[in-house]
Amino acid sequence: MWYSDFVMRSEPHPRILRNTAIQAARAAGKVLRKFFATEIRIDFKGEVNLVTEADRAAEVVIVRTIRKRFPDHRFLAEEGGEHATAESIGSDHRWIVDPLDGTTNFAHSFPMFCVSIGLEIRGEIVQGVVYDPLREEMFLAEKGKGATRNGHRIHVSKVEKLNAGLLVTGFAYDVREDLMNNLDHFANFSLRAQGVRRTGSAALDLCYVACGRFDGFWEMKLSPWDTAAGFLIATEAGATVTDFGNRPYQIYLKEILATNGKIHREMIEVLESEERPRR
Ligand code: IPD
Ligand code: CA
Ligand code: CA
Repeated sequence: MWYSDFVMRSEPHPRILRNTAIQAARAAGKVLRKFFATEIRIDFKGEVNLVTEADRAAEVVIVRTIRKRFPDHRFLAEEGGEHATAESIGSDHRWIVDPLDGTTNFAHSFPMFCVSIGLEIRGEIVQGVVYDPLREEMFLAEKGKGATRNGHRIHVSKVEKLNAGLLVTGFAYDVREDLMNNLDHFANFSLRAQGVRRTGSAALDLCYVACGRFDGFWEMKLSPWDTAAGFLIATEAGATVTDFGNRPYQIYLKEILATNGKIHREMIEVLESEERPRR
């Protein structure tokens, strides 16, 4: 797009959008670092679904930082839902925010969590920022411009076979109530891949596929704020991202499969098989 297009449409320049997202992610990361491994208040959204005062405080900081620069933009954020103001109603720009992805880890002082911020313009994700404040890793992507980690270009792995792949997944909070709880796929992949991990942060899982630490990630029942930024980062790093039936992924779908492309077909075969776990 030419500069004149931004001026004519009075669209903010992508660089300004990206820098604002980075600033918001760093500010939220600072909040999370402050709360981490301290006694914090925990509330329960369900029997195993938590929210802490850190989630809420980080979200406030993100919305405040972005709104200061773009008062007319909308938000879809995990804790506050659709934050809208009179000014932002009908805006083409919507920020999709998970202020703390990995809440259960955080609440147990397990050091694996991140801030995730994606920007959707007219239904398309165009910017993604995932920030791990403990490792100080900043994953970024802009639509059509590739993905980076701390400023260096990242790419998916070159592993050719599922048998040699390291996979990652997660489980929804209704794991105890719903039979579609992913445990069958978890068992099947455990018998087919080199290893399977469960980190507890879907946004980092996608970034780790993007930079080749994992070769494939699958999960069910995620929300848009879990995947908006990570989906773009993985895609821009060369990942293939679909649902379990190999249809293109969208952040409102309930199934995600993100791989290095080379093991995608094999993973779909396992996901589609009716096979019950066996030795
Ligand atoms: C959770 C994490 C986890 C995934 C869950 C998500 P939260 O998000 O991404 O890895 O398995 O399904 O809900 O609650 O920590 O923001
Ligand atoms: Ca999340
Ligand atoms: Ca969260």
